[in-house]
Amino acid sequence: MTDRSGEIANAGGPVRHVPVMLNEVLAALEPGPGSVIVDGTFGAGGYSAAIAATGASVVAIDRDPDAIRNGAAVVELSGGRITLKQGRFSALDEIAIACGHEQVDGVVLDVGVSSMQIDEAERGFSFQKDGPLDMRMEQAGPTAADVVNKAAQNDLIRIIGILGEEKQASRIARAIVDRRGAMPFTRTLDLATLIEKVIGRKPGDRIHPATRTFQALRIFVNRELEELAEALCAAERILKAGGRLVVVSFHSLEDRIVKRFMGERSKSGGGSRHMPQAAGEAASFDQPGKAMIAASDNEAVENPRARSAKLRMAVRLAGPARKGGIESVSLPRLANLSQFAQTGGAGHVSHA
Ligand SMILES: C[S@@+](CC[C@H](N)C(=O)[O-])C[C@H]1O[C@@H](n2cnc3c(N)ncnc32)[C@H](O)[C@@H]1O
Repeated sequence: MTDRSGEIANAGGPVRHVPVMLNEVLAALEPGPGSVIVDGTFGAGGYSAAIAATGASVVAIDRDPDAIRNGAAVVELSGGRITLKQGRFSALDEIAIACGHEQVDGVVLDVGVSSMQIDEAERGFSFQKDGPLDMRMEQAGPTAADVVNKAAQNDLIRIIGILGEEKQASRIARAIVDRRGAMPFTRTLDLATLIEKVIGRKPGDRIHPATRTFQALRIFVNRELEELAEALCAAERILKAGGRLVVVSFHSLEDRIVKRFMGERSKSGGGSRHMPQAAGEAASFDQPGKAMIAASDNEAVENPRARSAKLRMAVRLAGPARKGGIESVSLPRLANLSQFAQTGGAGHVSHA
């Protein structure tokens, strides 16, 4: 399913991120005085502030330097309960240990982009506001423009087709490659206009034709699926017995990873097509209650972003983390992002 970033961008004006499924997150995490919770996706600090208000200590992480800068006020108001670090949630166990916590009581992830990121045209996430074709949450590494201008046509087809679930990926990739030789892409609206021209817009279409391609580029540029899979394994390593892992995700690619991970880790021993090495290992998580919770109808009406939200929760069991790493969730095989890194020169533009 495509996420609803477009609707946020539609709203116009600065948008402050409204935390999604906050009550459900708190109910699933059960924070309280004395507990230590890792919030891997600080964003505007909505979850962190609410968790800290229960008396818990929070190790909050965000990869976006803007989120860290803008988070100072939330940290200040927490009276020392929130420690905010810039970093990736794939390293959440190392970050928690560096903050003095060998084990924690809970880990929460609210994956994807924040309203502030989408709303700020200069970040290059929006296909409705013109900005540089950037999309890097971390503001470092290869940009979406690097990928669009340098990736081989076949790689673009796979990125757009798999990460955007875009049926017209071949036509879009061909049009990109045909155009970039004469004039490389540098702006979001330029790319969005080309995509609209290539695949058209049916009357009554609720989403912009560029939505799926932009989603794909964003996920690819930020290695979002790998990050998520690695974060789940990091949470498994750092959670104490009885500790809770809570993940809110916004499209099927992410939810599938969380569902698969929690399912595999909750089975004792059997092993599977995705995780044959698990045979003989004990379960490391239990999944009590409903496997997946969606946002309430009220919240979905009030906050469009909540409409596609899915919350999954698992409780850490005693015993070691499973040996299998991110291969257990079988991520799609795509081009290596690092090949698009700038070398300081003009950069090679492939016409393959
Ligand atoms: C949906 S927002 C979180 C909103 C937050 N729950 C709140 O209440 O304000 C997602 C945030 O996670 C951050 N993020 C996404 N992927 C990340 C990663 N791999 N490591 C660290 N932060 C990440 C983004 O920069 C963004 O600020």
